[in-house]
Amino acid sequence: MTTKKWWKEAVAYQVYPRSFNDSNNDGIGDLNGLIAKLDYLVDLGIDIIWLSPMYKSPNDDNGYDISDYFDIMDEFGTMAEFDALLEAVHNKGMRLILDLVVNHTSDEHPWFIESRSSKTNAKRDWYIWQDPQPDGSEPNNWESIFNGSTWEYDQKTEQYYFHLFSKKQPDLNWENPEVRQAVISMMNWWFDKGIDGFRVDAITHIKKSFDKGNLPTTNQQKFAPAFDAAMNQPGIHTWLQEVKEGSLDHYDIMTVGEANGVSPADAHLWVGENEGKFDMIFQFEHLGLWQTGESSFDVLAYKNVLATWQKRLENNGWNALFIENHDQPRRVSTWGDDQQFWYESATSHAIVYFLQQGTPFIYQGQEIGMTNYPFEHIETFNDVAVINEYNIVKAQGGDTEALLHKHKMENRDNGRTPMQWNTDKHAGFSTAEPWFPVNPNYKDINVAQQLEDPDSILNFYKDLIKVKKSDDVFTYGQFDLVDENNSQVFAYTRKLNDITYLIVGNLTDKNAQLSLDNNSNKPQTILHNYDGDIDLQNLRPFEAAVIKL
Ligand code: NOJ
Repeated sequence: MTTKKWWKEAVAYQVYPRSFNDSNNDGIGDLNGLIAKLDYLVDLGIDIIWLSPMYKSPNDDNGYDISDYFDIMDEFGTMAEFDALLEAVHNKGMRLILDLVVNHTSDEHPWFIESRSSKTNAKRDWYIWQDPQPDGSEPNNWESIFNGSTWEYDQKTEQYYFHLFSKKQPDLNWENPEVRQAVISMMNWWFDKGIDGFRVDAITHIKKSFDKGNLPTTNQQKFAPAFDAAMNQPGIHTWLQEVKEGSLDHYDIMTVGEANGVSPADAHLWVGENEGKFDMIFQFEHLGLWQTGESSFDVLAYKNVLATWQKRLENNGWNALFIENHDQPRRVSTWGDDQQFWYESATSHAIVYFLQQGTPFIYQGQEIGMTNYPFEHIETFNDVAVINEYNIVKAQGGDTEALLHKHKMENRDNGRTPMQWNTDKHAGFSTAEPWFPVNPNYKDINVAQQLEDPDSILNFYKDLIKVKKSDDVFTYGQFDLVDENNSQVFAYTRKLNDITYLIVGNLTDKNAQLSLDNNSNKPQTILHNYDGDIDLQNLRPFEAAVIKL
């Protein structure tokens, strides 16, 4: 059995502050708005709040472009209000983890302002600068994750700087020990203030292999995605170990790394009980399983990915369980069915991911089954990645309609519409026009109404959390797939000592059948998303349950 830890027994909830709750009615969520909703989170059963960036930022990427790590974004409040938030979270028995964004800063961070001021500035080498090629073009053909080149030319010093994300997010040069030390000191400053951990943004990207030069392109594209040279590159663990020893090891905190590009095969280096640098990671392998135009969600592929992670980390590591975050579309609209089986598909997907071994994360609004936004025009989008891509395609005379069609369902803004609290104007998020439109379905989908309705998705989540906390088996018990080749049903057991539970979810809109060998005499249904008895031989669309065997 793995060692016991508070963060293994916890349920986490992600707050995207801009869209959570606006206390001063300027249309933008804020820290006091979050304080006002802490009782809601306590009532839901939350133990850990992950707060997306609330630091000073010019908001090119909604706070993931930080211009001061030691101060709060004006729209969100003040440091005194942050301190009050931290205290209130602790007083209510919860913990608060922040977003640590250190692959890059804002181009408005004083470090970068200094760095770009001259080639001889002491901070020049804190960022990544290279000469143009002889013809003046970019040093290589790597493409930014937010589209276009990773390089931006700087007139003043006649060099290019590197940015894996937007051009207002220059990458820090982690090769420089001073940078690593500055990051470590900043982390310790926040830990000394009493925060309980970090979600570590884009951490697999801090090391780049520039010696790889130009990368192969497809379809005669000018640029090639930089992943092969800028994600999980050899040598990264030396730096992470330095961070661990210089900071993480000294505090009773938790960390969850955002780990694009990490596979089960090298997971032990990231979260292994001995070699790991973090407590958990958000792996990405299940995120690309659904694409616009696909008629249904690939249940087998989903099972395969998650079960592989479960088995790989068994007794050596810990999973972070999640299906949504601020970079993902709403799952009930993509993996599920937000029309005919809205309730059933939201709750079936909930049961299936939530009771695996790991710490479950809920993204704001997921617990009430918030859906994708009905996008129509490019003007409605806020996501810098979509806008960049649209501008590039338009400049090339490409098919912008096809691009919009794809992004309607898959863009990051879908998860960023304001939280739907009640039926008041702007869904109770704010009395002013919100920074991003509220989903027009807020009169039907909102917290107030679901709190009152015993059969709501919200109350289902509350019950699910109670089940998860009712027995150690849901935390420490062994995970084993059941009927693993079943292409409709995701079913598994959790076992600890002589206690076994079956968790079963039909993830399709058709009836399905589960084959189960070790049937018990007196199965007891603990949680179920349909009325009446469950028949494993004839599961209804998206029917799901937790059954004690
Ligand atoms: C990952 C974050 O989740 C995303 O929102 C952000 O744009 C990038 N990292 C860059 O910080």
